[in-house]
Amino acid sequence: MGEPQITREHFGNLPSGKTVDLYTLVNSRGACAQITDYGGIVVSLRVPDAAGVLADVVLGHSELGGYLDNKPYLGALIGRYANRIAHARFVLQGTQYRLAANDGLHHLHGGLRGFDRVLWRAAGDMRADGPALKLRYVSESGEEGYPGTLEAAVTYTLTEDTALRIDYEARTDRTTVLNLSHHSYFNLRDAGATPILGHELQINADRYTPVDDTLIPTGAIASVHSTPLDFKRQRQIGASVDQDHPQLRAAGGYDHNFVLNGKPGELAFAARVFDPDSGRIMEVYTTQPGLQFYSGNFLDGSVVGRGATAYRRRHGFCLEAQHFPDAPNKPHFPSTQLEPGQVYRHTTLYKFSAK
Ligand code: GLA
Repeated sequence: MGEPQITREHFGNLPSGKTVDLYTLVNSRGACAQITDYGGIVVSLRVPDAAGVLADVVLGHSELGGYLDNKPYLGALIGRYANRIAHARFVLQGTQYRLAANDGLHHLHGGLRGFDRVLWRAAGDMRADGPALKLRYVSESGEEGYPGTLEAAVTYTLTEDTALRIDYEARTDRTTVLNLSHHSYFNLRDAGATPILGHELQINADRYTPVDDTLIPTGAIASVHSTPLDFKRQRQIGASVDQDHPQLRAAGGYDHNFVLNGKPGELAFAARVFDPDSGRIMEVYTTQPGLQFYSGNFLDGSVVGRGATAYRRRHGFCLEAQHFPDAPNKPHFPSTQLEPGQVYRHTTLYKFSAK
């Protein structure tokens, strides 16, 4: 058992010359999270296996250069709007807003220069529950097409019980839409060297939002019952990922928003992942109404990360706590509207253990 601590080192420079730092958070059990102020990216996350051996459980790069064109959004904070907005436009209070179409016809993960590609202002802090890194970013009105000046703050805490806790807070000076999330790719066995198909997954959701061929929600809210999306009981990700089901065909595997059973706004159990090989367990808790389970279908080996590991198809998975995709165009989905005077607040926790 050591003392919990947070340290800072130089990570590199952006093409603009700006300095980027890397913060290392260590809890008293030796678990360790490395986070950079560029994109708020979780670069590495080392947690124990069943034998107490620490190893990385996220996909990432050891150098800043790897993140400058981070196409798969490895480890990044996502904003202003996580996931897709259909046809890259929405109407708010009678005004139409146009966004970048960076995913076919649609808008994905905040646009061309989302929160994953900006430099955040960082400050380390030792809190009662563990070392924390507070990141702040002011997004000017009109940035990436969104209305309102947005002040966002995201705090990562590596807690003493080995959870990476993410607290989001934001304020706007004009009515806007907002959906912040986090995009780590996990592989509890070997951080991306082998497929995640042997991991067992449970998702606390009876329903999901089916998508069309371009991954935009149809607007329906459907039961997972007797579909390959039924993860109510823990089972292998690989068991039905290639089943001939229209929803899996559309996405090339899992890439779906689950409607969580918890009460939105209350921190509730969302998902559990178990890797039989290492014994590692990850549990997700969130205040958000939705959880995107993405089985890394678009990874194709072209991104080479830490230790010269090529990240191949399904070598990592994401569990992105969020509001539903395309909510600005789907009035019956939980609202993503944020008003001046309101405070946007969400918490998501990735908690690690082993057996
Ligand atoms: C999200 C999306 C996926 C994919 C990844 C990034 O998880 O739902 O379709 O775009 O981000 O590659």
